[in-house]
Amino acid sequence: MFSIHPLNSITLRQSPPFSNGRHRRIQFSSVSRWRRVQTKAVVSGGDNGGQIQTTATTKTKTSIPLESNESGEIEVKAMITIRKKMKEKLIDKIEDQWEYFINGVGQGIQIQLISHQIDPVTNSGKSVQSNVRGWVPKPSSVSYIVEYAANFTIPSDFGSPCAILITNLHAKEFYLLEIVIHGFNGGPIFFPANTWIHSHNDNHESRIIFSNQAYLPSQTPAGIKDLRREDLLSIRGTGKGERKQHDRIYDYAPYNDLGNPDKDKELVRPILEGDEMPYPRRCRTGRPPTLSDPFSESRIEKPHPVYVPRDETFEEIKQNTFSSGRLKALFHNLIPSLAATLSSSDISFKCFSDIDKLYIDGVLLNVEENKGGINDLLLGKLMNQFLSAGGRLLKYEIPEIIKRDRFSWLRDNEFARQALAGVNPVNIELLKEIPIQSKLDPTIYGPLESAITKELLEQELGGMSLEKAIEEKRLFIIDYHDILLPFIKKMNSIPGRKAYASRTILFNSKSGILRPIAIELSLHQARSSRRVYTHGHDATTNWIWKLAKAHVCSNDAGIHQLVNHWLRTHASMEPYIIATHRQLSSMHPIYKLLHPHMRYTLEINAIARQNLINGGGIIEASFSPGKYALELSSAAYKNMWRFDLESLPADLIRRGMAVEDSSMPCGVKLVIDDYPYAADGLLIWSVIKEWVESYVKHFYADPNSVTTDVELQAWWTEIKTKGHHDKQNEPWWPKLSTKDDLSGILTTMIWVASGQHAAINFGQYPFGGYVPNRPTLMRKLIPQENEPDYENFIQNPQLFFLSSLPTQLQATKVMAVQDTLSTHSADEEYLGQVNLQHNHWINDHEIMKLLNKFSSRLEEIEEIIKARNKDTSLKNRNGAGVPPYELLLPTSGPGVTGRGIPNSISI
Ligand SMILES: [Fe+2]
Repeated sequence: MFSIHPLNSITLRQSPPFSNGRHRRIQFSSVSRWRRVQTKAVVSGGDNGGQIQTTATTKTKTSIPLESNESGEIEVKAMITIRKKMKEKLIDKIEDQWEYFINGVGQGIQIQLISHQIDPVTNSGKSVQSNVRGWVPKPSSVSYIVEYAANFTIPSDFGSPCAILITNLHAKEFYLLEIVIHGFNGGPIFFPANTWIHSHNDNHESRIIFSNQAYLPSQTPAGIKDLRREDLLSIRGTGKGERKQHDRIYDYAPYNDLGNPDKDKELVRPILEGDEMPYPRRCRTGRPPTLSDPFSESRIEKPHPVYVPRDETFEEIKQNTFSSGRLKALFHNLIPSLAATLSSSDISFKCFSDIDKLYIDGVLLNVEENKGGINDLLLGKLMNQFLSAGGRLLKYEIPEIIKRDRFSWLRDNEFARQALAGVNPVNIELLKEIPIQSKLDPTIYGPLESAITKELLEQELGGMSLEKAIEEKRLFIIDYHDILLPFIKKMNSIPGRKAYASRTILFNSKSGILRPIAIELSLHQARSSRRVYTHGHDATTNWIWKLAKAHVCSNDAGIHQLVNHWLRTHASMEPYIIATHRQLSSMHPIYKLLHPHMRYTLEINAIARQNLINGGGIIEASFSPGKYALELSSAAYKNMWRFDLESLPADLIRRGMAVEDSSMPCGVKLVIDDYPYAADGLLIWSVIKEWVESYVKHFYADPNSVTTDVELQAWWTEIKTKGHHDKQNEPWWPKLSTKDDLSGILTTMIWVASGQHAAINFGQYPFGGYVPNRPTLMRKLIPQENEPDYENFIQNPQLFFLSSLPTQLQATKVMAVQDTLSTHSADEEYLGQVNLQHNHWINDHEIMKLLNKFSSRLEEIEEIIKARNKDTSLKNRNGAGVPPYELLLPTSGPGVTGRGIPNSISI
C-alpha cells in the first residue's frame, strides 16, 4: 500500500484543526537520527493531570533522549502500524501500485501531532505535520501487519503530544492499528486507534486519534479541548441523509425497517415506537422510505451491506472465515437448499428415529435446486457436510441434551431443571399466592383468576398444605399467560400454528428436586378455554401431560428468543452503544471501560434485522408468534422491561428467586441454592461490580465529579431520552449523581453484554438442537374427547405428538440457525481478556493492575464453577446423564462449546 521514501518536509500547523484543509505551513529541515526500536511501554498518568511515567511492560528499550539540536529543535519519530487484508487479492496489489503512481511514494498519509499546550498565536493546540515516510520491515510472523514511519522536528517547547490528526490521501481506506511516538522523556507515547481511516476522496476531514491517556472532560489539556468536541460532533452527524459505507456516524432510528410493504402486502409490519408499541432505538441508516409507506424505511437487498458505522463492521477474521461467512451461507445458501430439498415433502417426523437420522444419516441436500450457492456452504464444526453421489449431505451434531441421556427430555425433573440451568433460566418465579391473578384488563380478557386451585395443587404436594408450601417457598411458576394471551387468537390464525398461553406450577420437594405439578393452558379470555393438566398416571393422561409440557416449551422458546435474547440483550444494548460513541470522547475513561463490551453488536443486530427478525424472516417462520413476533417483543418492552431490574440481583429479587441478605457477597441469598444460572451468574456479577467500582473510584476522585462530568451526564440523558425514548418518562431510571450510581449503571450494562447474553445465547443448539426437547412452535392443540383428532391421538399418541411438533423443514431450518447463533468466532474476546492489538487502550498503571485482578478473579471463578459441576449434591448440574452447567464458564475455544463469556454481544 505504501512505499519507502525519504521524508520530504515537516510543517508546523498554524491554523485550527478543521479549516477547510488549508493550513499555513512553516518548513523545517528533517534529518532523521532514529533507528527502529521495539519499545513497548505503558505511559502512566491516571488522574494525575497527565504526568508521564514509564511502567512495567517495556520489552526492549532503546534509550530515547529528549535533546534539542543547535536550533532548539527536537527530533521525534512516529511509528504507524497498519493492518492490511489477511488475504490480499491480486486486484488489491494492483491498486496499491496504482496508488504509488498517483500519490507518489510516501505522500499518501499525512499526520499532524497536536500538543497538550495552546499555541498563543492560533489559540489552538501547537502542532507539527509530517508525511509518512515509508515501510519499515517488522520481524513478525504476522504478514498483514505493516509499520510505517514519520520523522518530526519539533520546537523544544512543544510540550507533550496528546492527539494526532491523520489524513489519508489514498483512494482507499486503510485500517490503522496504532501510532507510537518516540522521542519524549518517559518513553514512547501510544495512540491506539483500531479504526478505519477513510480516504480523503470520501471525506475531507482529517481523523483525530487521541493518546491513550484517559481524561475526564474537565481534565482535557487545553491544546486538545477543541478536538475533543469536534470529534464528537463529527460522530453525531446531522441526522440527515443516507449513510455511506465509509461513514462513522452514530444516530438513532425507530424499528421501521422490518417490513417490506413494497414487495408484498403480507410483509407490512408495524413501526415499533410510541406509547402503543414502544421499543429501543436502532442505529440509523437513513435509507429512503418505501414507496407504499412513507414512514417505513426501504430494505436493502444483497449484496449491498446494511450500514453500520465503519468501525462496527466485523473484522476480516470474523467476516471471512467464520461468523459472517457462516451467516451468509446460512441465510443465502443452506436455508434455501433445505427448503428446496424438503419443501415438496415438508412433512412431520413420522417417528423419533426420523429425528435421530438428522445426526446419523444427515439431510441429503438437493444440489440441482441451488447450483452455485450450495457449493459455497461454509459451516462450522457441528454441521458437517459431505459430498456424495446424490448431492451434499448435511449432518447435524448430536446436541448435548441427548448426548448424555437419550431420554432425559421426557422426565419432569429435567423439564424443571432446564428452568434453572437451561438456555432460558430467567422466567421462573416464586409463587406467592393462590389464586393466581392476571394483570390483564378484565373487561377485555375476562376473569382475573387462574383456574389452578388450591385443591388441585394440594393433590400434588405429597400431604403438605398449600399454605405451608408457600410459606416454605417451595412453589414456583413460569407464567406466560399475560404476555401471550393478547396474541393467541392472532397466532392461531396463522396456518399450521396452534399455541396456548401457559402457566406452569413447579414444586420443590424436601429432597430438593424441582418438578412441574400443574400446567394451565388458555386459548382465549373465556374461562371455559382454560384447562389445567397434571402429570397423571394412566397412559392417556401421561401422553396429554407430555403434550402440555411441549406447549409450555414452545411458549418458552418464543419468549426466550424474542424477549430475553433479542429484546433484553441485543436490542437494549444498541442504544447504550450509540450514546457512548456520540457523547463520550474516546479519551473518556468510561468510553474506554465500555469499549470492549460494544464490539460487533451493531453489525450483528443489523444482520439480524435483515435476515432473522424481519418480516418473513427466519424467526417469524420458525417460532409460534409468526408475523406477530416483534409486536410480542414490543409488548414485553412495554410491560416488563425496566433498566433498574436488568441487574442480576434485582432481577432475582423481582422474581422472588432471591431475598436481600447483606451478609451475602452480592447482597442476596438464593431461595433455591442449586440454581446454576443464578449461582454462577452472581459470581460473575460480583467480579464485574468489583472491577467497575474500582475503575470508577480511580477516575472520579472528587465527590462531585460525576455530576460535573458534562459528557457523562449527556450520555445518560441521551440513553434515556433518545435511545430508550419511549421509556423516557419512567420513574425507575436510576439517577446518575454519585460514583455508586455510575458503578451500578455500568455493571448492569456490562453484565447484560457479557454474562447475561452468554447464558441466554450459547445454549441454543445444545438445548434446542433436539426438537422434542424444545419445539419452537406447535402445530396442533391438545385433542379433547369430543374432537375428531382425539381418536387419532388414542390410536397413535407418538405420531400425534410428533405431528404437533415443527415439520422436518421447520425443524432443520431452526436447528441450523441455533447452531450458528451458538457459535463462538475464532476472534472472540472473552471477559477479562484484552486483545493484544488493544493492549495500549489505556496508559494507567493502576488500572492495569485492577484489570489483572479482574482477570485473576475470573480465573478463580472458572475453577469454582468446575468444582460445583463435580459436586454430587448439586443435582441440577451433576448426576447420571446430567450435563454440567457451563454456560457461565468465562473462557471457551471457537465453535459451539456451550461455554464462554464474550465481552460483547457478537452473535
Ligand atoms: Fe445473541
